Amino acid sequence: MFFAVCATALLFMVSASHSAPLACEDLVRPVDQLDLRQLEGRWAMVAGGLSYLPNLERFKQRDSATVNFLSNTSDTSISYSRSIRLDNKCQYHSYNISLEGSSFTYDGTDKSNVSSNFAHTSCRDCIVMHIKLVSKKQQHFYLFSRRRQLEEKEMEEFRAQVECLNMPPPAVLDPTKELCPEETADGPAAQPEEKIEEQRN
Ligand SMILES: *[C@@H]1O[C@H](CO)[C@@H](O)[C@H](O)[C@H]1NC(C)=O
Ligand SMILES: *[C@@H]1O[C@H](CO)[C@@H](O)[C@H](O)[C@H]1NC(C)=O
Ligand SMILES: *[C@@H]1O[C@H](CO)[C@@H](O)[C@H](O)[C@H]1NC(C)=O
Repeated sequence: MFFAVCATALLFMVSASHSAPLACEDLVRPVDQLDLRQLEGRWAMVAGGLSYLPNLERFKQRDSATVNFLSNTSDTSISYSRSIRLDNKCQYHSYNISLEGSSFTYDGTDKSNVSSNFAHTSCRDCIVMHIKLVSKKQQHFYLFSRRRQLEEKEMEEFRAQVECLNMPPPAVLDPTKELCPEETADGPAAQPEEKIEEQRN
């Protein structure tokens, strides 16, 4: 009987410690180890937290967004392109970033003004990019996944992370909205978006 009670108590403690919510410092910490090969390819933006309200409002206008990481040319630098679909138009931009562990800086940008990293997420096919605009005292916290829509508990973790950073509640993108077509080798300019829309309609 005694053992049964002890065992039950122990089980209880183990499961309680498993479900205990992570402290803020753990929730928003940078990832321990960044796997560049896992980063490669296209990710759909699921949600974003933005500290500056006018930016958050503008962010909510977008239909969809993606980031596409190219294979790394070294273990300290990588390029990615992002697309944003807004008002049925696609905007593309490419970035070269320099990595230092899970932190990164944008090439050609004043390092003291922007401080970024890939942050912790317990979602297995997600990445979180945390971009801090130091001089403007603003920050962006973006959740991307290989899926368009995540489980509720995965979204709860993201909301908790955004709350830990003292930002307004994140905006969740509509998973039914179309993504921008991937950029071709010729670049998106070779494929005017209007043409694509015409074909679709
Ligand atoms: C890409 O990154 C991985 C992991 O850091 C590294 O092992 C590999 O050598 C890198 N590739 C190139 C071409 O540098
Ligand atoms: C990224 O780096 C490549 C190779 O060095 C360069 O050709 C390209 O212009 C750079 N792109 C940007 C957006 O800085
Ligand atoms: C970086 O911040 C400094 C002030 O800290 C500012 O003067 C400068 O214009 C900023 N640079 C960029 C590229 O925003």
